[in-house]
Amino acid sequence: MNLNEAIIINLPKIEDPRGNLSIIEEEKNIPFKIERTYWIYDVPGGQIRGGHAFKEQQEFIVALSGSFDVVVDDGNQKKTYSLNRSYYGLYVPAGLWRQMENFSTNSLAIVLSSTTFSEDDYIREYADFLKQRDNEKK
Ligand code: TYD
Repeated sequence: MNLNEAIIINLPKIEDPRGNLSIIEEEKNIPFKIERTYWIYDVPGGQIRGGHAFKEQQEFIVALSGSFDVVVDDGNQKKTYSLNRSYYGLYVPAGLWRQMENFSTNSLAIVLSSTTFSEDDYIREYADFLKQRDNEKK
């Protein structure tokens, strides 16, 4: 999986003096059907979440509140995306190593996932990730 396949997607933003509104529709704003939604919150300063890859799961990550960084890594290169507004998010395809860090106080990260939860879908060891990537190249 190539690093360039992780992309920032801008969401519709309905600006309104009463407060803005943004929208995510599956297979329209994001390229998959949503099977699961989870969120990460109350992250103590300096903590890191993630640090794994998925075999199948694609995801879309939005900073609903506050800010944090998502580091994506294809085994050769890394790229850091700072998420800090709720009208865009990062699409992460399957097969990239990803980690979330640098959470601000009171940040709220929502993750929309293309799959139901399965521990078998995780690659949790970086060495296994590199091995799998090398096998795919063969
Ligand atoms: P994990 O995905 O490892 O968290 P992170 O990548 O943010 O560090 O999940 C942490 C724990 O929560 C792990 O034991 C699995 C469990 N979990 C579920 O049971 N269902 C879920 O949908 C998710 C995302 C995690």
